[in-house]
Amino acid sequence: MCGIVGYAGKSNGVIPVLEGLSRLEYRGYDSSGISTKVENDLSVYKKEGKLENLRTHIKDLNLTSNLCIGHTRWATHGAVNDTNAHPHGNEIFSIVHNGIIENANILREDLKSKGYNFNSETDTEVFLWSITDLYKKTNDIEKSIIETFKKVDGNSAFVIMNKENNKMYSIKRSAPLVCGLNSNSNETYMSSDPYALVGFADKIYFPEDGILCIADYTSLTNVLKFKNLDGSTSKDYKVQDNTMEMESVTKGGYDHFMLKEIFEQPGLIRKLTQLYLSDDGVKDLNNFEKFSSKNYIHLAACGTALHAGYVIKNFIERETKIKVGTDFASEFRYRKPNISKDDLGLFISQSGETADTLACQQMCKDEQLYTLSIVNVNGSTLFRECDKNLLIHAGVEIGVASTKAFTQQVLVGLLLSKALASNIDKDVLLKEFNTLASRVEDVLSRKDEIKNIARAIYNKKGFIFTGRGEQYPIALEGALKLKEIAYVHAEGYAAGELKHGPISLIDEDMVNVAIITPDLYDKTYSNAQEVKARKGILVSVGEVNNKELENDSDYYFGIDFDGLVHTKPVITNVVLQLLSYHIAKIKGTDIDKPRNLAKSVTVE
Ligand code: M6R
Repeated sequence: MCGIVGYAGKSNGVIPVLEGLSRLEYRGYDSSGISTKVENDLSVYKKEGKLENLRTHIKDLNLTSNLCIGHTRWATHGAVNDTNAHPHGNEIFSIVHNGIIENANILREDLKSKGYNFNSETDTEVFLWSITDLYKKTNDIEKSIIETFKKVDGNSAFVIMNKENNKMYSIKRSAPLVCGLNSNSNETYMSSDPYALVGFADKIYFPEDGILCIADYTSLTNVLKFKNLDGSTSKDYKVQDNTMEMESVTKGGYDHFMLKEIFEQPGLIRKLTQLYLSDDGVKDLNNFEKFSSKNYIHLAACGTALHAGYVIKNFIERETKIKVGTDFASEFRYRKPNISKDDLGLFISQSGETADTLACQQMCKDEQLYTLSIVNVNGSTLFRECDKNLLIHAGVEIGVASTKAFTQQVLVGLLLSKALASNIDKDVLLKEFNTLASRVEDVLSRKDEIKNIARAIYNKKGFIFTGRGEQYPIALEGALKLKEIAYVHAEGYAAGELKHGPISLIDEDMVNVAIITPDLYDKTYSNAQEVKARKGILVSVGEVNNKELENDSDYYFGIDFDGLVHTKPVITNVVLQLLSYHIAKIKGTDIDKPRNLAKSVTVE
């Protein structure tokens, strides 16, 4: 989703801003732009499409500026084109914005009635013209920003520069935004993601909502200042050393990041065993028994992370007496759930920046619940806001379609369930994790079998993924993966639900990907036969050497489940990840950056 990088300092800010934007490219965007200040003139350069288009556009201009803000846009208001790209600017201000101004229409009409002309269809321009209007009346930049910020509804982060001084300003509400400082050179930065500032800023400041951040590299005292909305100095921010490192973001010989990330899974499973199941690592799982008396866990997440949550719900309910309610974060936050402060809030997220998930965590925090996350990005907003975090240690996930994060989330969820039950038998778990890693390797080594199935079914009309019990979430996840990267219609269903409606879709052009493991085998097998009886194409994922299933299926993929007591959902999911990948590859879609999707969904 949108990315922001800003620079104020003695050097040429165009370089770190473009570098920072390129690091945020993987999150998904459709246009990009920068604004510079030379002497007292602001200029804006922006281009639809990839960042490369912007680089080409400005290549011969040799831009140099001590103040520079940049943006990668993921369209919310208005079409994808050069005009709607950010920054938006006029003769006084340039601004970039992440998020949505919910009352933009009302504010726009008001500003239009005052004679301001809008160039773009974006909500962002409302902020631009509002600060301009107030500045013309007050000649006070800080006040103009603060008063405008108070007027806009919705979750947003804004970074602003102006032609009058050498300062860069930012302010946010429930949207990611950090300030960075290079304490040797006094260069300052602002960004939607600290990852963009690795190697540039050694200190990262995390301001709270409604704090005006001011970067003034010419200041002799503090180059970064923070103010409350009443103009007083604020200490409402956290500061951390920037310990993040640039992770290798190459495809390492694979055709796509997604494929590389699928293949990373055995190594990551083994890494988890060292991190959580070694004598030292197991400490992270201590002290969970204090939650064993809880009655209820509210679990909220989005997309793939929620599917992992469904698997984790089963683990927790199997291991403990605690009930687990699972919700789409986007529903939980608005449906007024019965929350008691004695409950526990559990939030699952790869990025730790998903707007709806963060809102649920905040809601639970406001109700005084203890909040816990299963998260990948250390230092993300979710990580910072929760009382306790279990990191999944998946490394950076570039492919928009989440793969390795799911696997790690499920496994960390399994460990959590054992910790809640005070039932961590390290040796038993270690054995299962190691067996799982080897079995996933076996599946990966058979990728050509999956590719052949993909070749046979890729152009069929539609796909229904089915599973029961612990495999039901995998049916949902398999369908999500296929639709998001291959752009085909796919649905995930509990196998027993087929005859309550979707079975009417079954004909010779419809594929049923049925996950039929030893758990609830007879029931799930019967459902698959019902599909075959109606001439549907049956792709089954089941236990190795199951001749009955093999004979009845059009295509069959057998897995050795021996020793996988808890983790069968992980391995069946890997098969479905590869199936989606190969179908998408045959179809020639943009696998790592599927159309319309963003890696980190920071708007609701
Ligand atoms: O960063 P998060 O895990 O919070 O993201 C949640 C979803 O947006 C994400 O899982 C999405 O569904 C993926 N594109 C699925 O592959």
